[in-house]
Amino acid sequence: MKYLPINNSLFKENRDNFTKLLPNDSVAVFFSNDQQPRNGDQYFPYRQQSDFFYLTGINQENSILVIAPDIKTENLRESLFIVKTNEQIAIWEGHKHTWEEARDISGIQNIFWIDDFDLIFKEIMISTTNVYLNRNEYPKFFPDVKDRNHRLGNKIRKDFPLHTFNRSAPLITKLRVVKSDLEVKLMKRACNITGKAFERVLSYAKPGKYEFEVQAEITHEFLMSRANGHGYEPIIASGKNTCVLHYTENDKICRDGDLLLFDFGAEYANYSADMSRTIPVNGKFTSRQKECYSAVLRVLKKAKKLYIPGNTINIVNSEVNMMMEEEIIKLGLIKTEDVKNQDKDNPLFKKYFMHGTAHFLGLDVHDVGSKEDKFKPGMVLTCEPGLYIPEENIGIRLENDILITENYPVDLMESIPIEIEEIEELMNR
Ligand code: GLY
Ligand code: MN
Ligand code: MN
Repeated sequence: MKYLPINNSLFKENRDNFTKLLPNDSVAVFFSNDQQPRNGDQYFPYRQQSDFFYLTGINQENSILVIAPDIKTENLRESLFIVKTNEQIAIWEGHKHTWEEARDISGIQNIFWIDDFDLIFKEIMISTTNVYLNRNEYPKFFPDVKDRNHRLGNKIRKDFPLHTFNRSAPLITKLRVVKSDLEVKLMKRACNITGKAFERVLSYAKPGKYEFEVQAEITHEFLMSRANGHGYEPIIASGKNTCVLHYTENDKICRDGDLLLFDFGAEYANYSADMSRTIPVNGKFTSRQKECYSAVLRVLKKAKKLYIPGNTINIVNSEVNMMMEEEIIKLGLIKTEDVKNQDKDNPLFKKYFMHGTAHFLGLDVHDVGSKEDKFKPGMVLTCEPGLYIPEENIGIRLENDILITENYPVDLMESIPIEIEEIEELMNR
């Protein structure tokens, strides 16, 4: 991996915390992600299943973790299964973990070859009753392709129909949603790399550059800084594309007088940053662009104050909706009288600000956790108000990543340029 080694105490603690949540006489099984086929004999770049990484630190495919804290055989209480390499694999695919390396990375002492999984797993299963299987329980996400936890979990249910089956997802979500100090450190690094890439772009972007050329500058900075790459498909949108929320074509030319909206985040040690910035292609905002930009920036600054223990994503979203509604009225886009008579289920401001303001962030850009979860110290969320006026070719989103603490919100992107004057100054240096 490109990132610097992580102290395995992180993964040990994660496993200990998970184990504490298991009732007596339980076994939990976690599968690594599939290698996703692309075409012909090619795979997409490998990315580990986030829960699997959280509990092991292992980024290798075809791996299984089994946690069975109460079984008599001591060396089967925590087992990691990995592929046994051979000369062919070594020549064609490269190095795979040895037992020692897997031990070192994960802190798990009992490593086995995956070829022995069926035999050893049966031994574990016949001395336990409650089985915990993992699923991707992300709401409103229905992929056609079933992942390994889904497929192999179903196989376990079929092979051992008389056991009791339970969901690991609620337990692991409860843990992942609150970040440890070490995780926050990794996330800060992802944010800093993202900031460096943005500063690089400020001195690069100008009329005539293609969006993908700007993207190349960002990717260059990421890789030079030991990031895995992008935490999600980056949005580099100029002109009217600033109003397309999930624009990722990134193939247009940046034109004089237009805005350029970025939404990108480095993934460092599998932790993602998530940042949005909007800049004038020619280095100088027009007065209307300034007016709109200032409205969004004001809301961002006010909204950040809501990131305190006890609040929820739902609270932040509805408060920010009100702030944006007020700004949208001030910008002359909707009228106070019309707002008074509007359909409450379909408020007028939604024409110009149609997405939520906050989501959890961590190993996944849209990380685990629900909109009703009360904020607690250690949680990291995004704050991302936006304003989209297609008829004026103006789309603006500003997004920073905020750490909840006991006392006050900590903006992990505080030092990344955002004020109009500093952006103009850096672009014209
Ligand atoms: N980059 C995805 C988001 O902002 O939610
Ligand atoms: Mn976001
Ligand atoms: Mn974003």
